[in-house]
Amino acid sequence: MDWIEVLPHDELPDAQRRVVHVEGHAILLLRHKSQIYALDNICPHMGAALESGEVTEDATIVCPRHHSAFDLRTGEVKAWAPWPPGLGRLLGAVARKKALRVYPTRVEQGSIWVGIEKSD
Ligand code: FES
Repeated sequence: MDWIEVLPHDELPDAQRRVVHVEGHAILLLRHKSQIYALDNICPHMGAALESGEVTEDATIVCPRHHSAFDLRTGEVKAWAPWPPGLGRLLGAVARKKALRVYPTRVEQGSIWVGIEKSD
């Protein structure tokens, strides 16, 4: 795994988010309850940008388009395209359920670092 320095630590205050571009990946960095998370900025359902998605108290991000929900720690799917009501089930079937990709992070030398697998 390669560790890439992506942002000065003090440029991501609590409850803030930033999109960084690293080795061909658009990565959403966000700080939630003092924890830093890094995840693909592209929803695995139909590709909406997640940067404006709601982050809930239990560390879940909700896609603004069809409200799929993903665990910030693991990328696990908590809800798959439930919006809009009625049509959501059909939209959920359009794309196979798929976890959101998340990346390990660490803070070192005053910066945030993101781990990228070498094969990516
Ligand atoms: S694009 Fe994100 S839930 Fe459909």
